Amino acid sequence: MGYKISIVPANLQFEADDLDDVLSAALNSGINLPHGCKSGNCGACKCKVISGEINHSDDILPSTLSMDEFQDGYRLICQSYANSNAVIELNGFTNQLPIKTLPSKLISINKTGTTAVVKLQLPPSQKFEFYPGQYIDVIYKDQARSYSIASSPNKENQIDLHIRFRTNGIFSEAVFTELEIGSIIRFKGPLGSFTLNDESEKDLLFVCTGTGFAPIKSIMDSMIEAGNQRKAHLIWGNVKADDFYLTETLAYYQDKLNLDVTLCLSEDSQSGYYSGLVTDLLVEKHHDLANYQLYACGNPKMVESAYDLAKNKLNLQSEDFFSDSFTPSGK
Ligand code: FES
Repeated sequence: MGYKISIVPANLQFEADDLDDVLSAALNSGINLPHGCKSGNCGACKCKVISGEINHSDDILPSTLSMDEFQDGYRLICQSYANSNAVIELNGFTNQLPIKTLPSKLISINKTGTTAVVKLQLPPSQKFEFYPGQYIDVIYKDQARSYSIASSPNKENQIDLHIRFRTNGIFSEAVFTELEIGSIIRFKGPLGSFTLNDESEKDLLFVCTGTGFAPIKSIMDSMIEAGNQRKAHLIWGNVKADDFYLTETLAYYQDKLNLDVTLCLSEDSQSGYYSGLVTDLLVEKHHDLANYQLYACGNPKMVESAYDLAKNKLNLQSEDFFSDSFTPSGK
């Protein structure tokens, strides 16, 4: 059964049934409501329900939604289903950039260890706009796989993706074994709301693991283009040194931005690297985050733990936490 969901004050509507969560229903209707992980871990999809019934699928609330917020009508819409027509409030939301499904041509694959940097050429006749930090769904063999865009929106008609090899990963394995220069890849986007808040002048903490570096790179490229000199610290973690890629570009970012970089190894120790988790370093180096904005991207457990530490121990304001977490698909 379909229910009408209205968004205020944007005055947009979409239909949701009781099979799709409210966020998926909005995205299927071309409305890119703010979101990140789609799994209850980041809190980016939190909305206030003004009228009607939208209920969580699970009785246990995720750590990103407090009981007080729940009682005030807030819901994580990636974890909620409509049981009636409803009105949700999202101040400042305008759905500015249209979600499109487009073909693209694979023009280069650069492999370093288990990561491939892939460049896609977009059709010259179709304008594809996105904000730095957003992601796309690659549609491959009728299945969708999400990848952050790693390049700046100003790179005309071209986007970069960082793809880590996963055994049986439907698209990632194809990148390493099947796809060739010239292959046509369809995708849908832009999606997500992991973008730089330009209105703040607070210092920036970029905390990422694995290919969580991709959206951070897009944001840093855009900061260089805009002459943005906000003080920033990039904390990037991998299991071992061989898992890093594009490290040769880090000197360029340090030269152009007001940026410190620390690379962390979670299961190895080597000179030039911090030994430990990115969240260990976060606590060791930063004692008070009241004047910071924290952008976390990568493993969902890291994102959850960064949120918990930053908010509950390091004084970060909830509204200064932005995240995008990868929940790998089984295939
Ligand atoms: S909590 Fe819903 S998108 Fe992350």
